[in-house]
Amino acid sequence: MRTVDLIAKKRDGGELFSEEISFLIRGYTDGTIPDYQMSALAMAVLFRGMTPRERADLTMAMVDSGDKIDLSGVSGVKVDKHSTGGVGDTTTLVLAPLVASVGVPVAKMSGRGLGHTGGTIDKLESVPGFHVEISNEQFLELVNTNGLAVIGQSGDLTPADKKLYALRDVTATVESIPLIASSIMSKKIAAGADAIVLDVKTGDGAFMKEMEDTRELARAMVDIGNRVGRRTIAVISDMSQPLGFAIGNALEVKEAIDTLRGEGPADLYELSLTLGSHMVVLAGKADNVESARKLLEESVASGKALETFKTFLAAQGGDASVVDHPERLPTAAYVIQVPALSDGYIAGLAAERIGTAAMMLGAGRATKESEIDLAVGIVLHKKVGDRVAKGEPLATIHANRQQVDDVMESLYGSIAVGAEPVEALPLVYGVVDGSSD
Ligand code: URA
Ligand code: CA
Repeated sequence: MRTVDLIAKKRDGGELFSEEISFLIRGYTDGTIPDYQMSALAMAVLFRGMTPRERADLTMAMVDSGDKIDLSGVSGVKVDKHSTGGVGDTTTLVLAPLVASVGVPVAKMSGRGLGHTGGTIDKLESVPGFHVEISNEQFLELVNTNGLAVIGQSGDLTPADKKLYALRDVTATVESIPLIASSIMSKKIAAGADAIVLDVKTGDGAFMKEMEDTRELARAMVDIGNRVGRRTIAVISDMSQPLGFAIGNALEVKEAIDTLRGEGPADLYELSLTLGSHMVVLAGKADNVESARKLLEESVASGKALETFKTFLAAQGGDASVVDHPERLPTAAYVIQVPALSDGYIAGLAAERIGTAAMMLGAGRATKESEIDLAVGIVLHKKVGDRVAKGEPLATIHANRQQVDDVMESLYGSIAVGAEPVEALPLVYGVVDGSSD
């Protein structure tokens, strides 16, 4: 096999065989295929696409390029959830204890975040004492006893994807649906998921801004999962405004606690119930999403979901008293209101810009090396469509610096207030499962 012939084949619209795809991914991972050939191939894929079979083969070739997490020691169907990323996305913090509380084992390997706010681990580390440096044995044992544990990234998962994603980033080939779909799915499969629930975000704050592209990506990922024996479904949800109200690490932990208590933002709770009920069904703990949803609602109402969160925090060294005393979470030195300048209706909340404003305060990392400030962030008080009176707070800034004019200005630039009534935005646009096309 010669790499140049395979590039030419894809360039001319041909279909690569399984062995050809494995050859390319193996060669690229071990360095025998150079970056310039892989860039040409990625560009050919971007223009020519890949058949469903090619996408599944590419995914599995990337899974096979590195370590795989063995979750066979955890009893039950391991269902993982993945979000394509958004601003202030607190759903993992809510979902993990929520579904664990009704018997769905959650064995989560998570990373630190780059961008608007931290990743799940950063957020959880705002609970004093909480840590993810646990052994594999301890991790599996905690999942079996408490239904939930989170461990930091260990091992070398999907090195082919790491290398290829970095290459795509500098060769203008990120925007290829087959490449995005196989990149995301390879990581989930290598992390040991038996079944996968995808939260595919659409809108201004999302990776995919257009609905057509979002649906296509969702279909591609669902198809890959089902082809390789991992039951997969996707929920398409809105990210044209931030989800919930809080953007910032400790602020989001507090928001998750409120939500597990049934007192959180309506959109965050609703999306958690939607994603959670699909997880419960895939795990075989309910026959349909309606009864799954009922189980989850009961768990919130009875306090079981919150109890599961406490047990989980304590098991990994965390001070679980933060659940009843959220003031024990890191707090910022300055709390500054952003008042509305006129009466009207919220016409837009530019998710990405608001996320960037939170990052300016130190809630996220601009580069991998940046230090994150767990206490800071932004709490919004309105959603699109809400009425607002002049002087009423649109948002609250939690800062560890006194001077926040830059953040204030950025927020005024991203929160649009109009005189005319505006319709509220939908939260869920649809569900894509194996039977969708
Ligand atoms: N996120 C990923 O993990 N991979 C991509 O290719 C794009 C977004
Ligand atoms: Ca949030």
